[in-house]
Amino acid sequence: MPIPKDPNVLVGLETSDDAGVYRLNDEVALVQTVDFFTPIVDDPFTFGQIAVANALSDVYAMGGTPLTALNLVAFPIKTLSSSVLKEILLGGLSKLEEAGVALVGGHTVEDPELKYGLAVTGIVHPNKILTNAKAKVGDRLVLTKPLGTGIIATALKGGMASEEAVRKIVESMVALNRKASESMQAFGAHACTDITGFGFIGHASEMVLASHVGMVIRSKEIPIFSEAIEYTKLGLIPGGAHSNRQFFSCRVEVHSNVPSFLTDILYDPQTSGGLLISLPPSEADRLVGTLKKEGDAYASVVGEVVEEPRGKIQVL
Ligand code: CO
Ligand code: CO
Ligand code: CO
Repeated sequence: MPIPKDPNVLVGLETSDDAGVYRLNDEVALVQTVDFFTPIVDDPFTFGQIAVANALSDVYAMGGTPLTALNLVAFPIKTLSSSVLKEILLGGLSKLEEAGVALVGGHTVEDPELKYGLAVTGIVHPNKILTNAKAKVGDRLVLTKPLGTGIIATALKGGMASEEAVRKIVESMVALNRKASESMQAFGAHACTDITGFGFIGHASEMVLASHVGMVIRSKEIPIFSEAIEYTKLGLIPGGAHSNRQFFSCRVEVHSNVPSFLTDILYDPQTSGGLLISLPPSEADRLVGTLKKEGDAYASVVGEVVEEPRGKIQVL
């Protein structure tokens, strides 16, 4: 699209970043993002919570503070009771309250397929924006949540997921990335993105491209839900993982030692996934220690930023 240049647009469409950033003055810039999707769990209240944690995540990934939100709802009022909608919105509201974000409005349309999400507005200091474009050679990479939500959600749809597996992904998906965002800023993060629909490899690819660097990923260090490994070996792989592989495999060199189930998981589309943070090597272990204390039990150093080959991710 021919998008006119605007000097106040600090982060626009060019770098496939998490949210748009618009400078209001020397002290304040707006961070704006929108996200909505179809239910991935059966319980409407939980779905509402996941949708909010997911929508706020793009603001947290940019080092911003979310302030206000608008509900976006597509609802099949002819086939579903309005009490379901009420539960979804109450679930959403509970997470917005936890995050200290004000719900200021919304819009509902009738649709045969239920969808819920939000448009979120936050603020950030114009000099403190964290994009995916400033990862530096020598940085370490920290991932804050485990991978495998897409695989376990696929198993759930097929009636094959254990209660324990579902409990684990729900706990992870409803968790806000707020504390991780605050901590990474305290430890001087250079770049960040959140892991969502394009999977770990897709979002890491956007980071290497935007930052003009390469990455080494140590697959053994990647946090993964144990059940996701089990289900991947049974072939319960979501369609989105295949499209992610098609689109991003040109960016990836996988070492021959890496088992194929692991690469499948690296392409698994995530909902409300964790943050991928690039920060100075001396700070990485300290950040992980802090994150673990704050409740991100799976936070791990998963690799490092290298100079060559530029634009590529080496999976060891
Ligand atoms: Co994002
Ligand atoms: Co998004
Ligand atoms: Co309206």
